[in-house]
Amino acid sequence: MTELSILRGVVELRGAVAAWRSAGESVGLVPTMGAIHEGHLALVRAARRDCRRVVATIFVNPTQFGPAEDFKRYPRDEAGDAALLAGAGADLLFAPALEAVYPAGFATTVSVAGLTRHLCGPHRPGHFDGVATVVTKLLLMAGAARAYFGEKDFQQLQVIRRLATDLDIPTEIVGVPTLREPDGLALSSRNRYLDPEARKVAAVLPALLQDLSGRLAAGASPAPALEEGRKALRAAGFDKLDYLELADEATLTPQAKLGPPARLFAAVWLGKTRLIDNWPVPATR
Ligand code: PAF
Repeated sequence: MTELSILRGVVELRGAVAAWRSAGESVGLVPTMGAIHEGHLALVRAARRDCRRVVATIFVNPTQFGPAEDFKRYPRDEAGDAALLAGAGADLLFAPALEAVYPAGFATTVSVAGLTRHLCGPHRPGHFDGVATVVTKLLLMAGAARAYFGEKDFQQLQVIRRLATDLDIPTEIVGVPTLREPDGLALSSRNRYLDPEARKVAAVLPALLQDLSGRLAAGASPAPALEEGRKALRAAGFDKLDYLELADEATLTPQAKLGPPARLFAAVWLGKTRLIDNWPVPATR
């Protein structure tokens, strides 16, 4: 198993990365909020394949949680997470305290327009500003050649790509395909909130997305197909549906007519747990 050192300060992180870079070693960054699962480990393994050194970060970022969201109960187990990250090949864990990321007087927000107007944006006010601000900071702190993010949070991935381009941050943003349970449920730290009954219902979401994707690709008209899909999700036992949409993969604007590159996006609730997923829609056959 790789030796994993844990750093808490930005100066220490910069020093470690600078030493590797001056030795000609490329660095990959894997930002997380902990609660590490196989999906995160796939990001570490992807970074390991591309880069000589891998820095993982754990920071449960308060600014991306709404007042009624799960910041307080978000699972935290740094020692367990560190062992998993080391096992997958991370060299270093950056796990800063709150004050290292948001020192007294902190007053700057990174806000990405356009991409955040749709899908999760209206349902989670301030969420993407919190993500964009912390990811900008992590990218600038680490100065890595590449940074890895899961396609499960597809809107987040596009927002991060946009900010890196717009702010000339010289880190390549790499998207990694979603890992799924055998029944199709996308891996997520929030799956551990689901009781066995809810866990069964959760698997309906990816099955429905896959089926709907096939129907749209075969020429079904999007509006009625989506409406049927929404009804089917409600009937399956989801407590609430934030959205089920067909959207342009690049701009995330809803599509009334299938036009590549298209993707289905959904956010649903089971009790207090919010689940999101997305599925590509191939061009009409
Ligand atoms: O996807 C996550 O875990 C978080 O949103 C991220 C990118 C680590 C920022 O806090």
